[in-house]
Amino acid sequence: MKISNFATYIATLSMFFTANAAPVEPNKKQNIILMVSDGMGVATLDLARQYNAVVNGLELPSLLNLDDYLIGSLRTRSNSSFITDSAAAGTALACGKKSYNKAIGVDPDRNPIGNVGEALKIEGYTVGIVVTTKITDATPGVFYAHSDSRSYEDLIAEQLVGEHPLGRIPDLVMGGGRTYFYPNTSEGGSRADSRNLIEEIQNNGTWSYAGNRQEFDELDGGNNVTLPLLGLFADKDIPYKIDRNESVYPSLNEQVQVALTALTEATKDSEKGFFLMIEGSRIDHAGHANDAAASVRETIEYDSAWKEVLDFADASEVETLVVSISDHETGGISLNAEKAEDYQPLINATHSGEYLSKEINNFSDIDDDALFTKFIKSEIIEKGLGIYNYTNEEIERVKNTKNNEEPEYTEVLANLTSSRAKIRFSSYEHTAVDVGVYAHSNSDRLQYKVLDRINGLAGAHENTDYPKFLQGIVGFDMDDVTELIQDIQHTLD
Ligand SMILES: *[C@@H]1O[C@H](CO)[C@@H](O)[C@H](O)[C@H]1NC(C)=O
Ligand SMILES: *[C@@H]1O[C@H](CO)[C@@H](O)[C@H](O)[C@H]1NC(C)=O
Ligand SMILES: *[C@@H]1O[C@H](CO)[C@@H](O)[C@H](O)[C@H]1NC(C)=O
Ligand SMILES: *[C@@H]1O[C@H](CO)[C@@H](O)[C@H](O)[C@H]1NC(C)=O
Ligand SMILES: *[C@@H]1O[C@H](CO)[C@@H](O)[C@H](O)[C@H]1NC(C)=O
Ligand SMILES: *[C@@H]1O[C@H](CO)[C@@H](O)[C@H](O)[C@H]1NC(C)=O
Ligand SMILES: *[C@@H]1O[C@H](CO)[C@@H](O)[C@H](O)[C@H]1NC(C)=O
Ligand SMILES: *[C@@H]1O[C@H](CO)[C@@H](O)[C@H](O)[C@H]1NC(C)=O
Ligand SMILES: *[C@@H]1O[C@H](CO)[C@@H](O)[C@H](O)[C@H]1NC(C)=O
Ligand SMILES: [Zn+2]
Repeated sequence: MKISNFATYIATLSMFFTANAAPVEPNKKQNIILMVSDGMGVATLDLARQYNAVVNGLELPSLLNLDDYLIGSLRTRSNSSFITDSAAAGTALACGKKSYNKAIGVDPDRNPIGNVGEALKIEGYTVGIVVTTKITDATPGVFYAHSDSRSYEDLIAEQLVGEHPLGRIPDLVMGGGRTYFYPNTSEGGSRADSRNLIEEIQNNGTWSYAGNRQEFDELDGGNNVTLPLLGLFADKDIPYKIDRNESVYPSLNEQVQVALTALTEATKDSEKGFFLMIEGSRIDHAGHANDAAASVRETIEYDSAWKEVLDFADASEVETLVVSISDHETGGISLNAEKAEDYQPLINATHSGEYLSKEINNFSDIDDDALFTKFIKSEIIEKGLGIYNYTNEEIERVKNTKNNEEPEYTEVLANLTSSRAKIRFSSYEHTAVDVGVYAHSNSDRLQYKVLDRINGLAGAHENTDYPKFLQGIVGFDMDDVTELIQDIQHTLD
């Protein structure tokens, strides 16, 4: 959108809400939902929109659910680089301060700083976190933990289960990442100590636990949940949508449904509502892998979770504010397709490069050139990617790929699809471009506040402005929270 059009759009909305603004009532019960599309830039969403139109034969402009709710943009640089990582970006979004890349809830001098999860918990909100990556990963971590490095995931898991000056912060946790909850001496475990946190919480009776699809189903869409609930459905990431067997792993939408239902029930007699952070975690991973076929499906799943949350908000009797932001863009995606047919390779792909690279690593006859070539052609490129017009150079490129040396199989395979669809990537890393902000509320009062260009989120902002905005609508003082958590163990030294 051109800046001039965008400014007109915001001015019109602001006038509408000024005229209709309800009086300010700071202590009203409210639900606050933050959705984070990790690694989704504006072009990532454009790509998903175009793909969605082509695959479903929709008439243009065939908007996605998010499109109607764009209100502004965020600048994302961190304290240490123009290009942020998810840890520094998350720290900005959760704590309101820029820090160095890898920082989880600590400032540039490594002092722990309060986050909105803690602030709202202290205010009496029930706190939920739903992701599709490891629950100890950077983006979820910043809402309950403090660590000098995002890599101290053993420590972050301990803080999650309640080894924290304020006790347990989240009341409901769902996603992947069992691995940092049990020792590396057991299959799939990663902890360097011998603790089994899952056994401990069960023995201590401090959390209810769901550890697989069957136990997820027993949550009965959120009607059979005892809080606090820890739900961990994969050792590491929940598989990409394109690869996922949903009889084994719950979808993002299913997890969101359980969370919304359980949190609504838990707060129905409370004066305070809930805070829920929902992350579409793996849009970022598809960007790192330059995997357009995986990216579009992750993005559409996120967009459909946004719709689910919007429908929830509109039906809720509690004032509910929903904001969607990205922490940064990943991959430097640029779109060069001109016509619908250009997207056929994305439609043809049946698996991600990540999944197919595991198939290659599983292949036992890798030293037999004829067998390996046949396998790459028929199983990987034809069956896996749905590509039939491959060249000998492409086959050789795949066969000559080495693990642990970028580009790996994952990226080389993804590129066969992306390049055919005329999607170019400038990087295997994050980029420094601004990201979009999307917002909606069922309450004029909150809508008016979020559309305020100064204290709200409309227009162009720093990523540190989200918690400052929440501070304004809820009335907590983040410095007070920082006082309360400053003695947390946040380093391994
Ligand atoms: C990083 O933080 C330090 C300490 O607060 C500050 O002095 C410095 O200016 C910041 N650097 C950038 C690039 O923001
Ligand atoms: C488990 O972690 C310990 C401590 O870091 C390490 O010494 C050991 O080699 C690890 N074991 C496995 C199986 O990775
Ligand atoms: C479980 O209880 C024991 C004994 O009180 C305690 O040492 C441990 O930290 C608790 N573990 C968890 C994960 O709550
Ligand atoms: C509710 O959860 C319990 C375990 O916490 C389980 O035994 C029961 O079967 C579940 N009920 C339903 C309807 O799934
Ligand atoms: C999905 O998982 C179920 C349960 O393990 C299994 O029966 C089914 O074959 C799997 N589907 C695919 C396509 O792998
Ligand atoms: C690779 O092999 C492992 C172990 O046999 C199996 O569990 C996994 O499903 C296989 N993965 C793929 C992508 O074929
Ligand atoms: C897509 O797959 C079909 C076979 O299912 C094939 O005929 C067609 O050439 C493929 N299209 C592209 C663009 O790879
Ligand atoms: C990606 O595809 C383009 C076009 O075929 C090719 O020039 C480039 O080398 C490929 N990159 C990788 C990493 O395979
Ligand atoms: C294969 O088909 C795609 C269209 O899907 C086209 O862009 C590409 O140039 C073709 N590649 C070769 C090697 O013929
Ligand atoms: Zn990220």
